[in-house]
Amino acid sequence: MKALVTAGPTREYLDSVRYLSNGSSGKTGIELARALKQSGFSVKLILGPGSETPKNIPTVRTVSALQMFEQVKRNFGWCDIFVSCAAVADYRPQKISRKKIKKGAGPLMVRLVPNPDILRTMGVRKGRKILVGFALEDAQGLQNARKKLKEKNCDMIVLNSPSTVEADKISASLLFSDGSALKLGKISKDAFAKKLCQTILKKFYGSI
Ligand code: CTP
Repeated sequence: MKALVTAGPTREYLDSVRYLSNGSSGKTGIELARALKQSGFSVKLILGPGSETPKNIPTVRTVSALQMFEQVKRNFGWCDIFVSCAAVADYRPQKISRKKIKKGAGPLMVRLVPNPDILRTMGVRKGRKILVGFALEDAQGLQNARKKLKEKNCDMIVLNSPSTVEADKISASLLFSDGSALKLGKISKDAFAKKLCQTILKKFYGSI
């Protein structure tokens, strides 16, 4: 069984030093990659910037959403399960200035253009693969997460809240495409990764 995991934020550069990004330490995705490996999966991790490359996990480092998208497309054919943990920036500046932008007196207008939705694109191409997404919601969580589960053609989605961003603990619910759900209490990201991995094995691979 082969698992492709994305983790961490993406950075969308505006000039040579400034960027737009999402708050994300990459911790959940890295822990999940470790747990999947310990359960016997072959794992490839596509990891955004800002954290150390984990030891013993084949990892491709990326910076922007477009780079992450390229790497996911390149490795998608290889995997049986794709877990999209990454906090991908939905927009990027239309123009990247090669030089550091000098400040002026007035406001600075930055035009943003949409990034591709990596998970949604893979959802269209999924075939018999298992797709697991995350949904970070601050309001109407269940409703929004169910919508994402369906629209991105996932088999499972992990609903969590902004309080978990860059925190050590996570409080999440797992929602499945068959309508079932499992609520997990507030636990460490390490314990969460193990639990998520066990759930994947039980639900999609029939092991106990
Ligand atoms: N995702 C992705 N590519 C994007 C945006 C999100 O692959 N450009 C994936 C994330 O990795 C996650 C899921 O889609 O698994 C949902 O991400 P989330 O940020 O919760 O939602 P968005 O789809 O970006 O929608 P919104 O920001 O409007 O809530």
